[in-house]
Amino acid sequence: MTLHRTLVLVAHPDLGSSRITAHLTAAVKDMEHVTVHDLSAAYPDRRIDAAREQELLRGHDTIVWAFPWHWYSVPGVLKEWMDQVLTYGFAYGTGGDALHGKRLQLALSTGGPESSYAPSGHNRFTMDELLRPLHATAHLCGLDMAEPLILHSAHGADADELDRHAARYRELLSAVPAAAGR
Ligand SMILES: Cc1cc2nc3c(=O)[nH]c(=O)nc-3n(C[C@H](O)[C@H](O)[C@H](O)COP(=O)(O)O)c2cc1C
Repeated sequence: MTLHRTLVLVAHPDLGSSRITAHLTAAVKDMEHVTVHDLSAAYPDRRIDAAREQELLRGHDTIVWAFPWHWYSVPGVLKEWMDQVLTYGFAYGTGGDALHGKRLQLALSTGGPESSYAPSGHNRFTMDELLRPLHATAHLCGLDMAEPLILHSAHGADADELDRHAARYRELLSAVPAAAGR
């Protein structure tokens, strides 16, 4: 059985100014089977090397998108990455099976509290509803979407809560899914 490899794509416009995403990234970067890849640092001009990214994806079994929730969606750098890397013939369409059977784990934080993501809350929609475009993306690409890890009320999280959340994240990345080990 080969080692299950995990690629963490960190998608924050400026990791240096991040509290949550930076903390989560620090918590997993020493893990033996984990490759941490900071997209904004790698591509400050957003000119993404699609061939390199596709090679990285081929070499890993679980893909993590770690990001702050920006305008009910992923930050621009991750959208840019999706547009340039998840191409026809690679991620979908004829011959586009490079990601089939891999696992996609989302790790995101929101400023709004969990209660605000409800029909009666000020964000009006549930996270499940708002995450549908990402579910559809995973489905089209043949990725198995794991239960997203979400930290709500990011600004109010104290150090203990952040540590507990980071421990949970590390635990998720330690677990090799039953279907893995191909
Ligand atoms: C440009 C921008 C857009 C944001 N949009 C949302 C949003 O739509 N919903 C929400 O709950 N929080 C939103 N936030 C708050 C961030 O999600 C929050 O600051 C982030 O999760 C904290 O993580 P970090 O410390 O890694 O930056 C936004 C923040 C910024 C800077």
